[in-house]
Amino acid sequence: MSLASKLLENVKSDLEQGLLPIQVFNNRELYDLELRRVFAKSWVYIGHETEIPAPGDYALRYIGEDPFIFVRDSQGVVQVLFNSCRHRGSQVCRSEVGNTTHFVCSYHGWTYKNNGQLDGVPARSLGYRELDFSKWGLISAPHVGNYHGLIFANLDPDAVSLDSYLGQYRWYLDIQFLLSDGGMEVIGQPHRWQVDANWKQGAENFVGDSSHTQAVHRSALEVGITDSTTAGAPGTAFGIHVYECDGSAISIRQLGPDKTAFWEYPEEVTRFFGPGRLSPEQFDLAKRALVHDGTIFPNFSFIHVGLTDSLERKPAGYLSLRVWQPRGPDKTEIWSWILAPKEASDAYKRRAYRAGMSTFSPSGSFEQDDVAIWPGIAQSARTVFAEVTGMKLNYQMGLGDMSNVALINDWPGPGIAVPSNAGESGLRTFHRTWCRHMLGESA
Ligand code: FES
Ligand SMILES: [Fe+2]
Repeated sequence: MSLASKLLENVKSDLEQGLLPIQVFNNRELYDLELRRVFAKSWVYIGHETEIPAPGDYALRYIGEDPFIFVRDSQGVVQVLFNSCRHRGSQVCRSEVGNTTHFVCSYHGWTYKNNGQLDGVPARSLGYRELDFSKWGLISAPHVGNYHGLIFANLDPDAVSLDSYLGQYRWYLDIQFLLSDGGMEVIGQPHRWQVDANWKQGAENFVGDSSHTQAVHRSALEVGITDSTTAGAPGTAFGIHVYECDGSAISIRQLGPDKTAFWEYPEEVTRFFGPGRLSPEQFDLAKRALVHDGTIFPNFSFIHVGLTDSLERKPAGYLSLRVWQPRGPDKTEIWSWILAPKEASDAYKRRAYRAGMSTFSPSGSFEQDDVAIWPGIAQSARTVFAEVTGMKLNYQMGLGDMSNVALINDWPGPGIAVPSNAGESGLRTFHRTWCRHMLGESA
């Protein structure tokens, strides 16, 4: 029996005890299974519709390691097309972003409309007189869905709808995206960089690893880039973890009742916020919010936060969306987008972009701390010693009798909520969802 099969046989009971075999963070066989059982069976984030506002706008994206073109066709419909020519398989689009009416394959010149339909082949009358163009277009992802401008695709023909997949977690997404009439808008291009770590590392970190902030990001706290409440110090009064929310989780830091934070957006932005699109309970969470961060399985995360690019300036609210793009069992390409409310001024959007770039980007104060740590985990995960000793990692923080914190009985939102940052319930939720996919159970 292979190591991967052995691990999968026990992973469910391990997780019940808050344990996880370290090899899940670097094992080729598990990774190859993930591409099939996770990425080809989940709603995977492709991009935000504001990245391709005009007909013909496109950008290259990936589902697992498979290349797709994210394009708004000439009729204005968002398409997710497999970036592989039907003639010999070459990539028909070779630039990262652009605008076009047609994709022309560089190899022999087959030409496709921006909706994927085959539109021309060289020497048609000489060599392709009977070719049925309607059968030889670019292949579309079987399902494409849009939730408040977030475009997801699913490669599984039998997939449930995007709404069902997101389930009750939409309650938390709505808080991030429905504050103002115009919604959120992507500013500029995504930042991208690689880290020698498994894709699940960032996904589990963003789903609610509150306790790492006090350790690895200590320097950011010491110089005053953030304070311990915003950073979610265990024991601070208003840290909340919500878990088991249709397979996802969210971590929240907020001010007390009747206080206003709105992720530190200034009044010139918050004046566009209104409760009309949200329930009073959702709006109250937004009003008190310092930080909201979470992950939608498998590899899409967000952090809504107010931070600063300079100690001389007040924090500025922004939303960072990210994708933990798998590139191998021990390699991840991180994609990060910065968003701000559409109604904000251009000056504020520039400020939000700078705040995001200075904190959660490859040059950011927080980001650099994490990516210095994660490769070491991938390195340990492939060791012979970890294998022969059957090393398991500890995900027991806050589990069962580890904590005497009671659940919040009157929590207004979906999922299970605890008034504490001293827990790893969100991480356990993430890995349980992973486990269900890997074992072929319904997610
Ligand atoms: S591979 Fe695209 S035209 Fe031949
Ligand atoms: Fe971090």
